[in-house]
Amino acid sequence: MNTAPLQGIKVVDFTEVQSGPSCTQMLAWLGAEVIKIERPGVGDATRDELQFNPELPSYYFLQLNSDKKSLSLDAKTPDGKEVLTKLIKECDIFVENLHPGAMDKLGFSWEEVHALNPRCIYGTIKGFPVSSQYKNLKAYEPIAQVTAAAATTTGWFEGAYNMPTQSGAALGDSNTGMHLLIGLLAALQQRNKTGEGVYVYQSMHNACLNLCRIKTRDQLTLDKIGYLTQYPQYPDEKFGKTVPRSGNIEGGGVLGWTYKCLPSGPMDTEEEANNYVYVILQRGEKDFEKACQAFGFEDWLTNPNFNTADARDRHKKEIYERIGAWCANKTKFEVTEILSKAGVPVGPVISTQELLADKSLYDGNTLVNINQGGEVGEFTTVGVPFTFSNFQPTYGPCPTLGGNNEEILTALGYSKEQQEAMAKNGTTQPLADGQM
Ligand SMILES: CC(C)(COP(=O)(O)OP(=O)(O)OC[C@H]1O[C@@H](n2cnc3c(N)ncnc32)[C@H](O)[C@@H]1OP(=O)(O)O)[C@@H](O)C(=O)NCCC(=O)NCCS
Repeated sequence: MNTAPLQGIKVVDFTEVQSGPSCTQMLAWLGAEVIKIERPGVGDATRDELQFNPELPSYYFLQLNSDKKSLSLDAKTPDGKEVLTKLIKECDIFVENLHPGAMDKLGFSWEEVHALNPRCIYGTIKGFPVSSQYKNLKAYEPIAQVTAAAATTTGWFEGAYNMPTQSGAALGDSNTGMHLLIGLLAALQQRNKTGEGVYVYQSMHNACLNLCRIKTRDQLTLDKIGYLTQYPQYPDEKFGKTVPRSGNIEGGGVLGWTYKCLPSGPMDTEEEANNYVYVILQRGEKDFEKACQAFGFEDWLTNPNFNTADARDRHKKEIYERIGAWCANKTKFEVTEILSKAGVPVGPVISTQELLADKSLYDGNTLVNINQGGEVGEFTTVGVPFTFSNFQPTYGPCPTLGGNNEEILTALGYSKEQQEAMAKNGTTQPLADGQM
């Protein structure tokens, strides 16, 4: 059997930029038919954002919209509303991520869509939960990160760069899309039992906060005892009242840090400054013994400053220094090889260039090459992040703006003449200059 899990599921995708499209991207790759609604002549903002060639769609758009169909449609015109209504009546999932209030203005709120099609599941992304004082704010990635305590706990804790720092990972955008995906899949399962669609509201804030759970754990602990043993500040420096930035600590009870290594080659130079490795000392006695043997630091086994996990927390600076000196004359790959053989948790710090060059990751899912055809040709993206024992996703090209208009409108029963009229009156094509 090789059946796409969402085969037969029809999605009306009223999303743009990253958060919503990352969710519908996954729905499409899992086999759903995804119809992306885009403003005529404009399209998703990412189509022409950060392009590598002003004539071609950007990688931003390409990486988020493969295997979808595009319908250019102005949902503000009477004909546009009619088309959208017909699509909603036959879809399983409607997803949107416009600014707060926009769908109400368009006349396609949850209540209205539910009345049109009670089986339809309605997924929505906004910046903040409805209870939040910020619920009406427009939101982009950094706004989600800074308001969910992700930024205050990320970055360096001393020196000139001691400031709230954004993660390079899209905690506010793609992460929100994946959270909504979970909600939508649960809602589908629920609908199988009840026959009734449901409203799934996902805020970027909640998605981000869900990944900051351990930072709230740290705040609760700090409130109780006034210090945090796993942080670099412990035991020498005074803690404030809030969880500090943690640099590169592991975050749990084990002792982890990044160590500088020798540059390893043309993709890992001193100039790029990614010649680092991450090494973890586990808390267990046996694990620590193995690590000491691998480093040649057997003296730590009998030294009371190091031979218990609690003692190591108190003397972490000396540990960082000694392991740092040990790593300094090896490359990150040499360190990884030596320590992994000894069972020590270790990983080389990998740059985007190194990542995309790693042939072992082109396994059909992790990194995938999609043939877009035309001048774009092949491009690389990140595939479905999990694997199925009975289903292999395939990865197709992205649609041109309105590239599926005829197919979709014909299937809805619109004649050629009606489609031409909609193109002329601004419903599916931009109005000619001077027309209102
Ligand atoms: C991303 C965001 C900040 C952009 O805000 P924006 O610049 O106002 O753009 P929007 O697309 O939301 O809305 C612009 C207008 O286009 C309209 N529009 C969008 N698609 C349309 C279509 N197919 N037909 C007709 N009108 C359309 C909207 O109705 C809106 O009209 P209005 O201003 O009269 O209400 C905002 O959409 C937002 O906060 N979204 C929720 C959080 C989110 O997902 N953020 C993006 C993270 S990647």
